[in-house]
Amino acid sequence: MSERLLELDAVVVAHATAGTEVRALDGVDFALDAGESVALWGPSGSGKTTLLHVLGGLVPPTRGRALWRGEPLLPIQTVAELGHRTQRVAYVFQGSKLLPTLTAYENVAFARWASGTNGHRAHSPDELLGMVGLAAKLDALPGELSGGEAQRVAIARALGQTPELLLCDEPTGQLDSDTGTRVLDLIDALREELGFTLVTATHDIGVARRYDRIVELEDGHVLAAEAVTA
Ligand SMILES: Nc1ncnc2c1ncn2[C@@H]1O[C@H](COP(=O)(O)OP(=O)(O)O)[C@@H](O)[C@H]1O
Ligand SMILES: [Mg+2]
Repeated sequence: MSERLLELDAVVVAHATAGTEVRALDGVDFALDAGESVALWGPSGSGKTTLLHVLGGLVPPTRGRALWRGEPLLPIQTVAELGHRTQRVAYVFQGSKLLPTLTAYENVAFARWASGTNGHRAHSPDELLGMVGLAAKLDALPGELSGGEAQRVAIARALGQTPELLLCDEPTGQLDSDTGTRVLDLIDALREELGFTLVTATHDIGVARRYDRIVELEDGHVLAAEAVTA
């Protein structure tokens, strides 16, 4: 029997903008089991990034609840809690968001150190960059890498945290389709090897169809699953 990793109940995320309330999420129920791969699919503005942020505990629900293994996902208040969280959940952000003054190696090593996995369990930064095919680029700065290479460093960085859950936000959004396919194939291969749960946000149905399940979002709502599979 699979284990429930995350559960969202009637989650609303509201932002006050110019005196009115904008609901990035408007009553989302969502459940994620350990080992699943799920696509969050919907047009720009539908709430994908906000939902990923709630799943990762970066954004607290304005209303409703978010549970990790049955316990509320609380805002991070201490460095110890941050380390604990980053050991469980890792992000591949849209546009990779590497630290520009650190080399590829240093970007991976820093995240690995910050998540407290230094010295046990995790692959070394060299191994991680080797796994994503960048053994020759350890000393390159982000500005010296192509978009696809930078995205692969971002994947190595996330996996260095040995996460239970990997959250990817439009991981191929800024890549040409061949490079994008290679990046997605790489995430699949690493998932087979390392066994993490995956949630990927995408507006591209071709990307969404790679995963076990598609959750369709529109205007901050989850649409019925039938609408996607029909
Ligand atoms: N910090 C914010 N302040 C105001 N509105 C926001 C904020 N973040 C997101 N939104 C709005 O919430 C909606 C969902 O945004 P987002 O989750 O980024 O969608 P997606 O990732 O699907 O493009 C959009 O209409 C967006 O403008
Ligand atoms: Mg987004």
